[in-house]
Amino acid sequence: MADVILTGDRPTGRLHLGHLVGSLSQRVEMQNSGKYDEIYIEIADAQATTDNSGNIQKVKDNVLEVALDYLSCGIDPKKTTIFLQSEVPELSDLTFYYMNLVTLARLQRNPTVKQEIIMRKFENSIPVGFMTYPISQAADITGFNANIVPVGDDQLPMIEQTREIVRTFNRLYGDTLVEPKAVLPKNEKCCRLPGTDGQSKMSKSLGNCIYLADSAEDVKKKVMSMYTDPDHIKVEDPGKTEGNTVFIYLDAFAKPNHFKEYFNGEYNNLDELKAHYERGGLGDMKVKKFLNYVLEETLRPIRERRKELEKNIPEVYQILFDGSDKARKVCAETLSRVKKAIGLDYRNDKELINNQIKKYNN
Ligand code: TRP
Repeated sequence: MADVILTGDRPTGRLHLGHLVGSLSQRVEMQNSGKYDEIYIEIADAQATTDNSGNIQKVKDNVLEVALDYLSCGIDPKKTTIFLQSEVPELSDLTFYYMNLVTLARLQRNPTVKQEIIMRKFENSIPVGFMTYPISQAADITGFNANIVPVGDDQLPMIEQTREIVRTFNRLYGDTLVEPKAVLPKNEKCCRLPGTDGQSKMSKSLGNCIYLADSAEDVKKKVMSMYTDPDHIKVEDPGKTEGNTVFIYLDAFAKPNHFKEYFNGEYNNLDELKAHYERGGLGDMKVKKFLNYVLEETLRPIRERRKELEKNIPEVYQILFDGSDKARKVCAETLSRVKKAIGLDYRNDKELINNQIKKYNN
C-alpha cells in the first residue's frame, strides 16, 4: 500500500512558533525524507467557515498568509500538494454519504468539538455545519486514501472518528476506504508550546504568540517581556527552569551550534545554562538575549524566504490552484469508488438497467 500523508490547518490566522515546533518542522522533515508516496496539505477554508460564517473575509485573507507561511518554512510544492478545501467539492459529496454512518450522539461525545462549543459560546445555537465538521474531516482524509495523518493531540478525536467511519463504511459496502492513523509530533515537550505569557498554549485569541512573519524588532520585544520565574527577582536568586517559558522555548529551539556561536565556551549546552540559573547568579536578561538570538537564527531564513514570496503573490495563488486541481482529480476518483460501493452508480450499472428492462417488458 502506498504511504499517503494528509494534514491541514484552518486558515484563521498566521502561523506561529507553536505551529512550527508542533507540526510545520515535522511536515518539512517528512517531505524531505523521500519516504512517502504522496503528501497533501489542505488549507481547510471550508472547515473554517463552520464557525466563521459571519466573517468569511478573515478566512479568505488568511488563506494567503498560511500559504506564505508554509512555503517560507520549506514546504515545497514540487513534493507536497498544497490545496484549498473549497476548491474540491467532491469532499462535500463524500461528507454527505458519511453523515449517514455517524450518530448525533457520537458527534456530541467528541471531546475536541465539546471544548470548542464551550470556547465559542455556542450554547444552544450550534451550527449544524460546525457540529458535523469531524465528518467532513473524515472526507478530507479518506478522499486522498491517506494512511498517515500528522496532527497535534487535539486532533486525535477526529482521526478516531474517521477510523470509525471507515470501518462502518467498509463493513456495509465492502472494502473501499483506507483506515488512517494519527502521527503525533516526535518531541512531546514541543506538542504544546506555551504562550509568551506562560499560558498553557500559544493562541491568537490570548495575544501571546510569536508569529513566523513577525519582524526582528517584534520578536525581540516579545522575548524581552516574556514570562519567566516570578520568584527569580535578583540575579543572585536561584531560579526555576521547569515551567519557565524562556527555558521551554530554549528546549524547543536551541541547537548545539547556537551555544557555540553565542557563548563561545561559556556554556556548551542547555543543561549548563539551566544549572547556572538554578544555582543563582544568572539573570533573566542574559537568558532572554540568548533566546532572542536563537529565535532570530530560526526565524530569519523563514522571514527572508517570505519576503521573496511576497513579491510574487499571483504565483503563490497559482500554487494553490494547481494543487487544488490535482487534489480534485484524486478525490473525484475516490468519490466514484465510494458511490459505486454504495450502489449509486447508474451510468455504469448494466445490471440495474437490464433488470428494469426485464421488469417492464414482461
Ligand atoms: N481540524 C484541523 C484544525 O483545526 C484542520 C483540518 C481539516 C485537518 N482537515 C484536516 C487536519 C484533515 C488533519 C487532517 O486545524
